[in-house]
Amino acid sequence: MNKKSWAEPYKIKMVEPVFMSTRSDRERYIKKAGYNTFLLRSKEVYIDLLTDSGTSAMSDRQWAGIMLGDEAYAGSENFYNMEESIQRHYGYEYVVPTHQGRAAEHIISQILIKPGDFVPGNMYFTTTRLHQELAGGTFVDVIVDEAHDAESEFRFKGNISLTKLEDLIREKGANRIPYVCIATTVNMAGGQPISLKNLREVRELTNKYGIRIVHDMTRVAENAYMIQQHEEGYSGKSTAEIVKEICDLTDIATMSSKKDALVSIGGFLALNDQEIFEEARNLVVVYEGLHTYGGMAGRDMEALSIGIAESVEDDHIRARVGQVEYLGQRLIEAGIPIVLPIGTHGIFLDARKFLPHVPQDSFPAQALAAEIYLDSGVRAMERGIVSAGRNKETGENNYPKLELVRLTIPRRVYTQAHMDVVAESVINVYENREAIKGLNMIFEPKHLRFFQAQFEKIV
Ligand code: F0G
Repeated sequence: MNKKSWAEPYKIKMVEPVFMSTRSDRERYIKKAGYNTFLLRSKEVYIDLLTDSGTSAMSDRQWAGIMLGDEAYAGSENFYNMEESIQRHYGYEYVVPTHQGRAAEHIISQILIKPGDFVPGNMYFTTTRLHQELAGGTFVDVIVDEAHDAESEFRFKGNISLTKLEDLIREKGANRIPYVCIATTVNMAGGQPISLKNLREVRELTNKYGIRIVHDMTRVAENAYMIQQHEEGYSGKSTAEIVKEICDLTDIATMSSKKDALVSIGGFLALNDQEIFEEARNLVVVYEGLHTYGGMAGRDMEALSIGIAESVEDDHIRARVGQVEYLGQRLIEAGIPIVLPIGTHGIFLDARKFLPHVPQDSFPAQALAAEIYLDSGVRAMERGIVSAGRNKETGENNYPKLELVRLTIPRRVYTQAHMDVVAESVINVYENREAIKGLNMIFEPKHLRFFQAQFEKIV
């Protein structure tokens, strides 16, 4: 492994002030937000680690691209640039633009899933699973068991269990499985990668049964970088080459460009099958916009076409993941329980171990995210029982094994000094963890409840 410093391959040209607050300010803000960090206003936040989605800093080239926006309703030049960038860097032939990832998930779910179908995947993602369910399908988790164990140091926790997958195909029948969903990386497991060896095996198995692979390629460059660093035989390949190799093993891709691809808004569906493409291109005009903009402005498509190229550069990705590792190492050294190995887009605190005295029904991860905010103004996100929602048949809470708080690092935005502040705050909350009692939910929305649910402190 390359042990040299990962210092940023860029310098800062423009700055944006951040907001400082006192603890008593923050007590008011978080109470008003119902102890849900999604309901804080951004001006109430000091260091914003809610998400890496749409929060990246764009390069000077991307900003220059913004000025080249061709806002024609139909046939914008920027669409063709974006299409060409997707073909060149990811290798898929046909492109349907969407305003963000979940819109692509919606379209492909509507086209491929029939009521009663089953959709296996390497762990659920909130929006992906919901769209599968809204189309009448049932998501089935076929990720390896290690992924559900925060302490397992298995390198490729994003891998599919071939036994689980084949058992499901045999039990339900290949005709009730429209596709296998493969996420690169697996967000809910802690930003964990899938190996190329495993993906190749999944390809062989799905070929045997005539089942497609849909690739949630939201963080594919980060996954490729982990393969380069840790999978045998790939240390001499570039991230860009590995990205291509991953995409080549799949049939269809949904993309939230707001992550890897370094833009504030955008997404797409990309695929090689012409018939499905025609159907998707037709549906996109119903839900998103004409098939040459799909909910994006011309300028956004231009910034995206440039962002894709930057996202697969080795120097970029090494510094991006290097910063995440830096924060993770500081927390490990202080004895803070985090998901291991360190993932690619954030550090995931293990709230079960952090707050062993808080039962899962009292939302330990939600409570911990609120405490970190109270301590320092650092905003994190719950990824535990609140995010897991309810079983669609029984209406009971899902009880995920992983009860996590995600400190998500935006790309190219914060400095190492910011990471130090974050680490110090988490350590401080850990030292005072006994005082944290948990929360009661007082408002629960029907869909994706974590975004808008409200809570009260248990005293
Ligand atoms: N798939 C994955 C793996 C994601 O992480 C996300 C979004 C989506 C799909 C949906 O994309 O937001 O563009 O509609 N994740 C964000 C996050 C929201 O904070 O992790 P979208």
